[in-house]
Amino acid sequence: MPLRLVLLLSLLGCVHKNPPVTREIRWDSPKTQALARRACYDCHSNETVWPWYAAVPLVSTLVRKDVERGREHMNFSTWDQPQEEADDAPEELAEGEMPLPLYLRFHEEAQLSAAEKRALIAGLRATLAADPPLKGESDDDNEEEDDDEVEEDDDEDDDGGHGRGRGRGRGGDDD
Ligand code: HEC
Repeated sequence: MPLRLVLLLSLLGCVHKNPPVTREIRWDSPKTQALARRACYDCHSNETVWPWYAAVPLVSTLVRKDVERGREHMNFSTWDQPQEEADDAPEELAEGEMPLPLYLRFHEEAQLSAAEKRALIAGLRATLAADPPLKGESDDDNEEEDDDEVEEDDDEDDDGGHGRGRGRGRGGDDD
C-alpha cells in the first residue's frame, strides 16, 4: 500500500500496535512453535502480523476485535498471567474450531496439512503439560462452564458479561 496511505491511516488510528511480550510460553520444540506461529499467533499472541486491510476503517475494527478477543481467551505472549482457557487449545484445533474459519480464507499460510495439524495438537499437549498455564481470576474453577450445551447465538457484550474481574489490572498497574 502506498506510503502516503499508510501514513494517513495511521493518523486515523487504524494502524495497530502490539503490546509487549511479557513471557512467552516455553514451546516443547521449535517445530511446535513454528506451527503455532503460523496458525495461532495472529490472534493469540502479542506478535500479531497485522494484514494491510486491518488498517482499513471498519475492517480494522473487525480484525482488531478478533485479535483482542483471541488474546483475552489465551495469549502465548503473556504466560506470566492466568490463561483460563489454554487447556482447550488442542481440542479446539482438533475439532476444527480454531483457527477461525474466516481467518483461514485470508491466510493460506495458516492452513495446516493433516500431518501438521496432528503435530501441532501433540505439540500443544506436550507444551501445556510442561509449562502449564497459570490459573487465577476465579476461585471456583471446577468446571463451571459446560461448553457442550451452549446456546450463545447472541454475542455477549463486554459490559455486562459474566464477572470479568479483569478491568483492574488493565490500564493501571497492580499495587
Ligand atoms: C483470527 C483469529 C484467531 C486465530 C488465528 C486463532 N484463534 Fe483461537 N480464538 C479466537 C477468538 C476470537 C476466540 C474467542 C472465541 C469466542 O469468543 O467464541 C478464540 C478462542 C480460543 C480458545 C478458547 C476457547 C474456549 O472458549 O475455550 C482457544 C483454546 C483457542 N482459541 C485456540 C486457538 C488455537 C490453538 C489456534 C491455532 C491453531 C487459534 N486459536 C487460532 C481467534 C483466533
